[in-house]
Amino acid sequence: MANQYDRKYAERCFYWGQEPSPFCLKALELLPPERPLRLIDIGCGEGRNAVFFARNGLDVTAFDLSPQGVAKTRELADEAGVPLRVFQADMLEYRLTEKFDIVFCHGCLQYIPPRLRSTILGNYKAFTSDGGLNVLSVFVKKPFIEKAPDAEATAHPWISGELFTHYHDWRLEFCTEVIFDDTSGGVPHKHAMDQMIARKV
Ligand SMILES: C[S@@+](CC[C@H](N)C(=O)[O-])C[C@H]1O[C@@H](n2cnc3c(N)ncnc32)[C@H](O)[C@@H]1O
Repeated sequence: MANQYDRKYAERCFYWGQEPSPFCLKALELLPPERPLRLIDIGCGEGRNAVFFARNGLDVTAFDLSPQGVAKTRELADEAGVPLRVFQADMLEYRLTEKFDIVFCHGCLQYIPPRLRSTILGNYKAFTSDGGLNVLSVFVKKPFIEKAPDAEATAHPWISGELFTHYHDWRLEFCTEVIFDDTSGGVPHKHAMDQMIARKV
């Protein structure tokens, strides 16, 4: 299934840049790579975060719906000279079948419709090692923020705070809600995003 990022990722430049999200550093602060760690990056885009983790010595697996994103991720990893497994998959269908120390998903959970959220997050929780982290962020609805002019048809923004409720039985190491400006699509607008790092104890 094609998505709106295929065309953007087909360009030479990196749509999201090559610098990792600051969210990655927070994850490593909470689980430093002092021993071999396995991480999966779900919806890895063009690989900026997956490659950052691989550069820091983690054993990284990554996937995205966009074949162009997968190719860019491979290219970025090759340029950095780091090993990384990356493949094309749909997070609505793909389920983890082996354990990871860190399940990382930045800015993609909004593609999961409400009926699949418990199942998919339940799978991520079950396949996280003891003491491991789920590092997740998702776009949320706020009554005072208008729908983005370039809102994606495949996205289903979550209720503010909803993400945290799925982790009521884990230790919430970090959770916040940020509101930020965006000019994608050429029209200035705002987004709200919930960010959470939860530890399996
Ligand atoms: C906002 S971007 C975030 C990319 C990356 N996580 C980052 O921080 O740079 C959302 C990503 O989700 C991917 N995506 C959309 N629907 C998906 C699906 N059903 N399964 C897997 N990835 C999906 C898009 O191709 C896109 O790369």
